[in-house]
Amino acid sequence: MTTLPSGLPVVVDRAAPTPLAVQISAQLQAAVTGGALRAGDRLPSSRDLSATLGVSRTVVTNAYARLFAEGWLEGRHGSGTYVADVTPPPPLTPAKATEPDRGPGRPHARGSARADVPGTPERNRVSPRPLAAFGGLAAPTGLIDLQPGISWAEGIEPAVWRRAWRHAGTHLPSRWPDPHGLPELRAEIAAYLRRSRGLAVTPAHVLVTQGVSSGLALLADALLTHGDRAGIEEPGYATGREVLHRAGARIVPCRVDAHGIVPEELPGDLKLLYTTPAHQYPLGGRLPVNRRQALIAWARSTEALVVEDDYDSEFRYDVGPLPALHSMDPGVIVYLGTASKVLATAFGAGWLVAPPGLVDRLAALRPRIGTRIPEAVQHAVLALLRSGDLERHVRKMRLEYARRRAALVDGLTRADRDAANGHRTSARVPFRLLGDTAGLHVVLELPRDYPAERLVDAAAARGVAIYPLDRYFAGPPTMSGVILGYGTATLPQVRRAAAELAELLTSRPERDR
Ligand SMILES: Cc1ncc(COP(=O)(O)O)c(C=O)c1O
Repeated sequence: MTTLPSGLPVVVDRAAPTPLAVQISAQLQAAVTGGALRAGDRLPSSRDLSATLGVSRTVVTNAYARLFAEGWLEGRHGSGTYVADVTPPPPLTPAKATEPDRGPGRPHARGSARADVPGTPERNRVSPRPLAAFGGLAAPTGLIDLQPGISWAEGIEPAVWRRAWRHAGTHLPSRWPDPHGLPELRAEIAAYLRRSRGLAVTPAHVLVTQGVSSGLALLADALLTHGDRAGIEEPGYATGREVLHRAGARIVPCRVDAHGIVPEELPGDLKLLYTTPAHQYPLGGRLPVNRRQALIAWARSTEALVVEDDYDSEFRYDVGPLPALHSMDPGVIVYLGTASKVLATAFGAGWLVAPPGLVDRLAALRPRIGTRIPEAVQHAVLALLRSGDLERHVRKMRLEYARRRAALVDGLTRADRDAANGHRTSARVPFRLLGDTAGLHVVLELPRDYPAERLVDAAAARGVAIYPLDRYFAGPPTMSGVILGYGTATLPQVRRAAAELAELLTSRPERDR
């Protein structure tokens, strides 16, 4: 038996079938639930604990990673690993006390969501409030915003940020911008995509963009003529739809199911198809390999260009990565990536991967339409990639998002299980969580006859902003549900939101009591 500096006994049994990391994490978790370890207690470093227990450092790192992902531990910048505050959220506040301020972009009352917010939900986003501390509630009575699609910009280490911009500041602007993007950045992005996504690309395949929408708009400008038919997932990314529509394309909604796009149903006359195979937006499907093959075969036979939006593939939790669709046939797939999720939307950086001929054609269009990519941003991206800071940041945020996701999913499913097991006598709204293995959001699917706005309104009355799924449909919605983003809500906020939503879903409505 070994005693931690806090006085806590931890035992490892090498003869037991349970892996050592699981033994350690289970004992630490029991110590937290039993009260032997309290919120704010500092744990020994993995180096110290591995030395104390006589196990490898990887064992301890794995044990900590597991506890971290489940929300039992938290890291503080530069100062170690601490026990997180896992106390249950305080009793739910009465509706009136938490009535949120309904500013622009807030969820709307029933029936008004589409009418009040024309176009895309993404274009009407509320800007995230600055949150004082990593992990702290913004304000006791503030709205907890589960807006999807926004990353946690506050997670960027200020020192890393400064380093990137110091590097950018050492370069005077060029006389004239290279419309492909800086050559050294294209080389660095190609290397990043080879490392992180296994793409077989050279710098000549890479065009620097300001993000997915900027790449898509350029493609549409170069390749589509007025009235061309462009397929977009249904439900799908409203901004993508809007970009193609504004380029003069006729939008063809293409059905997705829990796995993603359904290739057998694709029409034969599309000029372009926009798709999110790694993590369908918003339903979260991961396109299985047989569908990938069918999609490629469809693209070859119809000569349609498939645009793969790989917007959040860096954030995957319980599942291994599927290769990018691009690797299966770089001739028919254009790949779009973005720094919006790995860093921040406000950064405005991204990349497009296509055959060199198409890259040159797109680059040639830029000076004609006056588009350029700010060089300072490009130098900053270059510094982040070269130093390894970007990948370190992604690893850190993957853990943070994993904890938030676990808190959200556990909070919702535990309450659901309790209700199903008869621990509650009240009525339940059956629901299903979709797409919880990756990204920064989950979809909570409701029964078809249960209007999502009812839950949106009830949640807003309890101080939680959630967003109805119907906004993601171009045509009449075929399912009911809400989208819950955990990119900008802190862990305690996510826990609180999950508890409020669980309460709404598992208890009878007021009027039935
Ligand atoms: C499906 C999808 N693609 C791409 C993006 C990011 O686009 P951009 O790189 O233009 O910021 C988002 C952000 O919300 C998204 O939801």
